[in-house]
Amino acid sequence: MLSGKLQDALNEQMKNEFFSAYLYMAMAGYFQSEDLPGMASWMRIQALEEMIHGERFFNFLCDAAGRTELRPIEGPKNAFSSPLEVFEFGLEHEKFVTSRIGQLMDLAREERNHAAEVMLNWFVTEQVEEESSFSLIIRKLKRVEGDGRGLLMVDQELGQRTFVPPAPGGA
Ligand code: FEO
Repeated sequence: MLSGKLQDALNEQMKNEFFSAYLYMAMAGYFQSEDLPGMASWMRIQALEEMIHGERFFNFLCDAAGRTELRPIEGPKNAFSSPLEVFEFGLEHEKFVTSRIGQLMDLAREERNHAAEVMLNWFVTEQVEEESSFSLIIRKLKRVEGDGRGLLMVDQELGQRTFVPPAPGGA
């Protein structure tokens, strides 16, 4: 059983995850327009993963006999001045998500909702990975700053990322 407060916070985080997908698609569009297909592909996969994150919250709300509420999603940033700016913006966004997951975890613990805690544990670990992958790309981009050839190599490398669908039964 979910309290009204926890249900509200879970619905808000579901929105944040779907917003993340929207933001990363905007970034994919920027990379596409800059002829950086590898980075565009990386961001499209990132957006797909965020859709799955949103679905995890949706599924949990349904399974816990809560009420889902799909909230309005604001428009994402669409204009960027460089690939580095994109990934730095992405990292800041992931830090925001990490802080929201932390707040949700605090609430689940306060309410002794163990099922929510277990569900949120996955996100705690995931956020470490998310921040780490954005940070690594930022470091690479800083290393090749001003070097067009280096940028193309990073683009090629990011284009190697593949989408791994969740295991059956998982979200
Ligand atoms: Fe769903 Fe990138 O955090």
